[in-house]
Amino acid sequence: MTDFSSVKGKVAIVTGASDGLGKAISQCYADNGMKVVISDINTDKGLQVVEGIKLAGGDATFFKADVSNEEEVKNLIDFTIETFGRLDGLVNNAGIAADNRPIHEYSTAEFDRLMSIDLRGVFLGTKYGVEGILKSKSSGGFIVNVASLAGILGNSSMGIYSSAKHGVVGLTKSAALDYAPYNITVNAICPGTFRTSIWGETPEEIVTQYAKIFSPSGRLGDPKEIGHLALFLASDLARYISGSAISIDAGSSAGKITPVQWAHPEILE
Ligand SMILES: NC(=O)c1ccc[n+]([C@@H]2O[C@H](COP(=O)([O-])OP(=O)(O)OC[C@H]3O[C@@H](n4cnc5c(N)ncnc54)[C@H](O)[C@@H]3O)[C@@H](O)[C@H]2O)c1
Repeated sequence: MTDFSSVKGKVAIVTGASDGLGKAISQCYADNGMKVVISDINTDKGLQVVEGIKLAGGDATFFKADVSNEEEVKNLIDFTIETFGRLDGLVNNAGIAADNRPIHEYSTAEFDRLMSIDLRGVFLGTKYGVEGILKSKSSGGFIVNVASLAGILGNSSMGIYSSAKHGVVGLTKSAALDYAPYNITVNAICPGTFRTSIWGETPEEIVTQYAKIFSPSGRLGDPKEIGHLALFLASDLARYISGSAISIDAGSSAGKITPVQWAHPEILE
């Protein structure tokens, strides 16, 4: 029987894990027997995630780190190895969005800030995470980078976000080649539209409308669905998958949608 038991006992760090997709990935990892370091800049919410995991019988701890701060990322890796004795995998999930605007309307400071978290953060996590995995002599090391549909396709009014996420995909593919000989897989997850707090103050009806227009399925993704993909990539079932940018978007990145009229709609009745 094929199952996910190979992840049991693996030690993983998830960044941006106090909320949204990172929280869902952490819960899925812990539910399946992994030891998880929940890392985020939001301590209160991070501790709540740890508490929830422990109540459900899982093993997790919190470490505060800003992914754009080199010293803090280094400390995060050291803390993990001191606490759990090893590191098998890292999910570079922390990221921020920007207001939707054409490129000439972004300030250089906005560009630098977004890049420092969404791209530099993934570089730092990969740099120090790989060192930790190598030192741990993990037989199933993995890096999962959370990119975006905007890391595969250009996106009007999301130019700086899309630039950072394309960078994450490039870094992922290159790192996969660097570390394949050392049995560390490196993949990117490219989510379409998921219901998380990244949407900020955007009214619910606009988010729903967005999903109807931009998701072929007509619905937003459930963060748990990202957890399932991240679990697969952490497992030994996925050891031959590396350097991939895997879309999880109900087909949004597959192509253009053109209006269609069925000749036999009665088949649906
Ligand atoms: N939700 C979506 O529809 C969607 C779609 C595509 C890609 N993504 C990507 O998924 C990832 C997670 O997004 P989300 O929707 O869960 O967002 P979210 O806002 O719900 O959660 C992001 C978490 O990251 C933390 N964070 C922010 N800046 C940080 C920093 N500098 N260091 C450490 N932690 C930091 C926040 O405190 C928060 O807990 C991001 O990289 C985002 O770009 C999300």
